[in-house]
Amino acid sequence: MTASPLISSQLDVRQLGINPNHWYVVAQADEVKDQPVGVALWKQAIVLYRDSQGHIRALEDSCPHRFVKLSRGKVVEDELECAYHGWRINAAGECAAVPYLAENQKLPTCKIRRYPVKEQDGFIWLFPGNSNLAETVAPMGLPEWNHLNYIGSFTVIDAEAHFSYLIENLMDMYHGHLHQDWQAWADPVLQELEETGDRVDAHYMAQNYYRIDKIWSVSQLFFPHLRRLHPDPLDVSYVYPHWKSRLGDDFKIYCLFCPVSPTHTRAYLVHFTSLEAFPRLHKLPTAFRRFLKNRLFNTARGLLQGLVVQDVAMIEDEQQAYLKNPERRPHELNRALVSVQRLIRNQAMIQVTSRSQSDWDEALTEFSS
Ligand code: FES
Ligand SMILES: [Fe+2]
Repeated sequence: MTASPLISSQLDVRQLGINPNHWYVVAQADEVKDQPVGVALWKQAIVLYRDSQGHIRALEDSCPHRFVKLSRGKVVEDELECAYHGWRINAAGECAAVPYLAENQKLPTCKIRRYPVKEQDGFIWLFPGNSNLAETVAPMGLPEWNHLNYIGSFTVIDAEAHFSYLIENLMDMYHGHLHQDWQAWADPVLQELEETGDRVDAHYMAQNYYRIDKIWSVSQLFFPHLRRLHPDPLDVSYVYPHWKSRLGDDFKIYCLFCPVSPTHTRAYLVHFTSLEAFPRLHKLPTAFRRFLKNRLFNTARGLLQGLVVQDVAMIEDEQQAYLKNPERRPHELNRALVSVQRLIRNQAMIQVTSRSQSDWDEALTEFSS
């Protein structure tokens, strides 16, 4: 069969896959200690563990013996020991030992997939694509994670929905209507939109009432009638496959994506409050500043969780409505979302066009089913 050419604009964005040749976030660094942890990234089950040097390893979560999950086992001498019959799998994904191997038997030469993985800025980043390309692409990075002038908080987003619904939610600042009293800004207006390579930057202007150097201003969150608004830039960027934003000089938020399947997305929402506006604080001893940063870590978590509950309800409604009637088109007025969908399509096309002919046929079947 000869594959007919796919035109990117014809692809239904709600069914598109990821471009695997990027670094995705599969766990928070502290979640991976001395025992295996099972995670999932775009229909692939993956097991993470730390070796005795503290290095993160990532393997296909499937014992080569009878395909049970290796994440049910344990780490023994830097190898994964399967729970079922105790076969040991080394960091390269090879069978390293079988406890009942007879003298006249050889170790099976089976091998499971090993993934490029790194620990950076508090998270575990995994490259699910062509491992030869892993070092040619950099993870997005969160320079504020270790910076003494930023206080971090994070929460998990777990939504039964395609990743496109989550990124559209994050790029569409007009949905502030949903959060009303939960956020520090109002009345956004999209001013500029840029599409370059693998990113979309949307620049909004919003009315902010919070000022980090005037602590009392937080009370305006709870007493809307006291709000004194001032304009501040609100910049949001889809840096495929992740998101980052900035409100004025005081706040930065990241959303680190882990698309699990076409109808399930996990992500980490990470918020930073800047202390740049307190120059006297910067003169204090580094150890004290570190103590303060650690002490205040996650103070905004409750607020983030409140926002996430509201967003996830909307996103899951959208997914359900799509599944009931995929032909029904929404009425979109925000041009930033047109750019977001174009980027998702382009990234999916990069993946499809780099496939072999048989993969093409398979992909076509996938899109049309
Ligand atoms: S299934 Fe893993 S050792 Fe048998
Ligand atoms: Fe939101």
